This record gives sequence, C-alpha cells and structure tokens, in this order.
Amino acid sequence: MTRGDEPRTGELPVLAVDGLTVMTSGGRRVVDDVSFTLRAGERLGVIGESGSGKSLTALAVAGLLAPGLAAAGSVRLSGTEVIGAPEATLNQVRGSSVSLVFQEPLTALDPLMRVGHQIAGPLRRHRGLRGAAVHAAVLDLMREVALPEPERLARSFPHEMSGGQRQRVAIAMALACRPSVLIADEPTTALDVTVQAEILELLLRVVDEHRTALVFVSHDMAVVSQVAERVLVMRTGAVVEEGDVADVIAAPRHPYTRSLVESARALDAALGGRPPGAGQDVTAVERR
Ligand SMILES: Nc1ncnc2c1ncn2[C@@H]1O[C@H](COP(=O)(O)OP(=O)(O)OP(=O)(O)O)[C@@H](O)[C@H]1O
Ligand SMILES: [Mg+2]
Repeated sequence: MTRGDEPRTGELPVLAVDGLTVMTSGGRRVVDDVSFTLRAGERLGVIGESGSGKSLTALAVAGLLAPGLAAAGSVRLSGTEVIGAPEATLNQVRGSSVSLVFQEPLTALDPLMRVGHQIAGPLRRHRGLRGAAVHAAVLDLMREVALPEPERLARSFPHEMSGGQRQRVAIAMALACRPSVLIADEPTTALDVTVQAEILELLLRVVDEHRTALVFVSHDMAVVSQVAERVLVMRTGAVVEEGDVADVIAAPRHPYTRSLVESARALDAALGGRPPGAGQDVTAVERR
C-alpha cells in the first residue's frame, strides 16, 4: 500500500508490539511484557526513570538490540515480524519502515565524512538514487530539516556544525528512507533549551507532513505533553500506566506517574509557567 493514501479509519497499525520482553544473558528481564500499537501519524510518548527500559524497547522495535540481549514476544512493523527475523529482513525493515534518532547526534554521524555524503548514504541504499538525483535529494532533505545554506553545510564535517545542526542532520538521515515509524530516543536532552524547542518543533512538523508514526522517548513529562497524544509510563521494564497524555496528567493513577506529574508541575511553577524547552506547560494540557 502506498503511504499517504490509506483511509484514516480501519487502517492497519504501522507498529504493533505485543508482549515484548527483553532478557539479559544473565537472565534479568529488562523489558517486561510491553504492548502497544501505533497507526500512521500517531505520536506516542514513552516516559520513565533511568534504567526503566525505554531505550531497550526502542532498540528492540528496530531489531537493534546488542548481542547478549534477547527479545521475545512480537513486534510487527507494517505487518513484518521483527523478533527472530533474519538480518536481511531487518535491513529491509530498517530501510523502509523504521528509523531512529538518538540523544547524541554524533553517534549517528561519521566524524570523518562530510555531512552531505552521509545523508546521501541512506538515499542510495534505500531509495536507489544515483548521481545528480542523490545530490538534489540531499539538498531537499537538508531544506526540509531547515538547515541553513545547505550547499555549503553539505560540505562540512560534523565537528564544524552546532549540536542542533548535527541533530537536524541525524533527523534528515532518519527521514531519508521515508519511514512509517520514527523513534526518537531523548532527541533533545543533549541540546540547550532554545535548540530543544526548535528540534521538537521540527520533529512535529516532519511527522505531521508525512503522517509518520512517532515514538518519543523522554524522562520529561512537560516535553512529552508537548509532543505526544498518548503516553506509556515505564518502570523497571514494565508499563505501569498508559493513556491520553492529557488524561494521564490530569489524573495519574500510578504513584510513580503522580510523582512525574508533580515534579513537572513544580518545575513549571518555579519557572513561572514555562518549563525549559516547552512551548506549552503541563497545567495548560490539564486545562485542555
Ligand atoms: N547491553 C546491555 N546488556 C545488559 N543490560 C543492559 C544492556 N543495555 C541496557 N541494559 C540494562 O537494561 C535496563 C534498561 O536499560 P535502558 O537503556 O532501556 O534504560 P532507559 O529507560 O533508556 O534509561 P535512560 O533514561 O537512562 O536512558 C537497565 O537496567 C540497563 O542497565
Ligand atoms: Mg535510554
């Protein structure tokens, strides 16, 4: 099916996670029976304290778990099963269905390669573009993520760019294969406050334009309330609460969620109604 022309109702999920469990080789269950589904254009926040299994859930969805970690259960990306799939299938899925953006953009970038060349990589691999078409598509992507002077910046190395620009390059690379699911794992945590807000705005714009489903991992309820419609709250590998962001913030059921909401609200009050990086405060979501 061509993306963009599906009916809004009755369409199949682009991501269906069912009973996902990740075990360490030592037998520790670090992701415990996680289930959720996402349809085209939906935005899901995943929130939880450090070590709660957010990143491992994200990596398991993309079939990118480190050796020594074993996943069980089911992850279907546009209908294709990821758990237990051979590497060839995973490569194909990663080229067409799912992309990741990480906290530190440098992890996605090769320090020795000009950024235009790096953005060209996935365009050649996944979209089969060659020659002048690659060059044009690189510049298009750079414009899409609002990088200034794309012709000049394409010839830069990652260390010649700002952190925010590097994250824009990483987002451009993640978008190159036009994924149906974009997973962003704390994509703004390493950036300073004003840049955070710009990157959030960019992510929201690009997923909206392409009806990309978004999984947005964060430890910050204020940021999640800005980005996501639904939220999963994780603790020690398991989902302890889930629901519409506004409902969860208005009436958190789990004590841990309550503490997350309260700390976001305390920060909000201390800052006079505007948490860092957030254009919209938690209490505003409550009033919606
Ligand atoms: N490669 C690995 N081998 C063994 N255990 C791991 C591995 N990677 C992560 N873990 C453990 O799994 C648990 C969940 O880790 P994960 O990285 O998913 O946490 P997180 O919620 O993303 O935390 P943070 O907010 O700090 O990024 C942690 O206890 C971590 O120590
Ligand atoms: Mg993490």
